[in-house]
Amino acid sequence: PSEVRAAGSHERPLIVAHRGASAYAPENTLPAVDKAAALGFTWVENDVQRTKDGVLVVLHDDSLRRTTNVQRVFPKRAPWKVKDFTAAEIARLDAGSWFSPVYAGTRVPTLDQYMRRVERNHEKLLLEIKNPELYPGIERQTLRLLRREGWLDHRHLTSRLIVQSFSAGSVRAVHDLEPGVRTAFLGGPATADLHRYAGFADLINPSYGTLSAEYVSAVHAFTGPHGKPMKVFAWTVDDASRARTAAGYGVDGIISNKPDVVRAALPAA
Ligand code: G3P
Ligand code: CA
Repeated sequence: PSEVRAAGSHERPLIVAHRGASAYAPENTLPAVDKAAALGFTWVENDVQRTKDGVLVVLHDDSLRRTTNVQRVFPKRAPWKVKDFTAAEIARLDAGSWFSPVYAGTRVPTLDQYMRRVERNHEKLLLEIKNPELYPGIERQTLRLLRREGWLDHRHLTSRLIVQSFSAGSVRAVHDLEPGVRTAFLGGPATADLHRYAGFADLINPSYGTLSAEYVSAVHAFTGPHGKPMKVFAWTVDDASRARTAAGYGVDGIISNKPDVVRAALPAA
C-alpha cells in the first residue's frame, strides 16, 4: 500500500515531523531527526540551503543568526547569511544551545550527514529546497547528492522521498530533471490554476490558515504527474483542535512541530 494516504480515504493523515521533532529538539538538526524516530514517526521535513563554498546544509532561515551562536563566533559578519559562510565556518557553530543547554555542541548538519542519519533511522524525507533564488542550480545539486546517497533508487522514489518548495520554478525543475521524484508545491494556488501545477507536482501543501474542505476536494480532483490524484499536506499544525479540523477537511498529511500531539488528537482508523 502507498505510504502516502489515498485521496478521499478516512485513514488518519500521514504525520510529518516538521524540521524534525522541532518542538522537542533543535530544528533541522540530527537530534531532531532522532527525536522524531524515538517518538515513532517515520516522516521528517527539512530545509536545504547552500554555503559560500557550495556545500548543501540543513537550515531554515537564510541567516544563521536565530538558530546558531554565529553572532558570538563571527561578530563582524552581519547579517550572517548562510551563503556568505563556508562549510568549515558553519561547522564551528553551535546550533543547539539556543534551544536548550542540553543540546550544546549540536552542529548544523550538511545534507550528506542528514541523509545518512535519516537512512540509519529508517526514516522518510520531505525535503524542502529553501530560498532557491539565492542558490542557482541547487535543484540539480540536491538531486545529484540524493542519487549518490542512493535515494533515487526505485524503492526510495516510490516510498521515501518528496521534494517540495515555495518556488514553482524549483518544483518544476526537480520534476524535469528527475521525473520519478515525487514533488510538492508549498502554497495554495487558486483552484483555477491547479491544472498547471498538476503537470509537475504530486502534492499541494498549503498553510493551515488557507485550508478548506472545498480546497482539499478541488486538489484531489486533479491527477498529478505520476497518474494519481494530487494530495494535500497541511502545515504547520501543532494543536489537537486544528489537527482534527484539517483531518476533517480530508488532508492526506499534517506537518507538525508536535507530531505526538497530532497523533493523540487523531485516533487511528
Ligand atoms: O513543510 C512546510 C513548511 O516547512 C513550510 O514553511 O517556513 O517552515 O519552511 P517553513
Ligand atoms: Ca520547511
